[in-house]
Amino acid sequence: MVQQLEETKEYLQQRGFDKPEIGIVLGTGLGQLVDLIEDPIVAHYNHIPHFPISTVEFHKGKLIYGNLFGKKAVVMQGRFHYYEGYNLYEITYGIRAMHALGIKNLFVSNAAGALNSDYSKGEIMLLDDHINLQGGSPLAFKEVSAFGERFVDMYQPYDPKLNGLAEAIGKEEGLKLRKGVYAAVMGPQLETRAEYRYLRIIGADAVGMSTVPEVIVANQLKVPVMAISVLTDECDPDNLQPVSVDEMIGIAERTEPQMITLFKKLIERI
Ligand code: HPA
Repeated sequence: MVQQLEETKEYLQQRGFDKPEIGIVLGTGLGQLVDLIEDPIVAHYNHIPHFPISTVEFHKGKLIYGNLFGKKAVVMQGRFHYYEGYNLYEITYGIRAMHALGIKNLFVSNAAGALNSDYSKGEIMLLDDHINLQGGSPLAFKEVSAFGERFVDMYQPYDPKLNGLAEAIGKEEGLKLRKGVYAAVMGPQLETRAEYRYLRIIGADAVGMSTVPEVIVANQLKVPVMAISVLTDECDPDNLQPVSVDEMIGIAERTEPQMITLFKKLIERI
């Protein structure tokens, strides 16, 4: 596994992915940031050695390197989800690859449902903590110790410095930046009313199907991480309305500019 990662890194370095400082994972419906990358170099996941084999649905997945708001960045446009049938090592391979290239900070984004009744769709939420309900760990494999600690401490999974900066920027920019606990479920089905009720009771403010595996691996690799949820639907168990995935993607697209503002200011300041 270590050797494979080395080969992935060498391929990307030969393609010109030179010492990125920042790694970014873009969630569902969040792709406009990519248009702001200057002098982009694009590597399709299908062409990168040892990257998980893409499903048909996933053929658009790309790793993009370039200058973003004045810093060298590498961006995963499209992520791998547990519900697509990948294992958790595969899902987080991109994080290990970006770490091998040398990233110093990681920003993760996702589309999520709002559980906290004060939060509305079309708002963004800074992850303060999470609950892993995916039923597995990206660190549960034989060779894990070759990559770092096995018993990774998760007492502060989201970097307090990055989060503090994000909150300050949120205020300065007049963004309605929420803060809360993200629960990661496996999906792909959305939750029942009873499940939303349960998620509220256990203390989750938002629910989605990603991010937590990537954050766990970033913690193993000691890469400071910040994560943002774009809230795409309201999960009120007592008044649940039908939603379609297309609708959620539409809301994610309309909300993304707020996230981009936050990322821009953060990248400029770190
Ligand atoms: N549940 C799970 N994942 C989601 C949701 C949701 O309500 N909304 C967006 N991603």
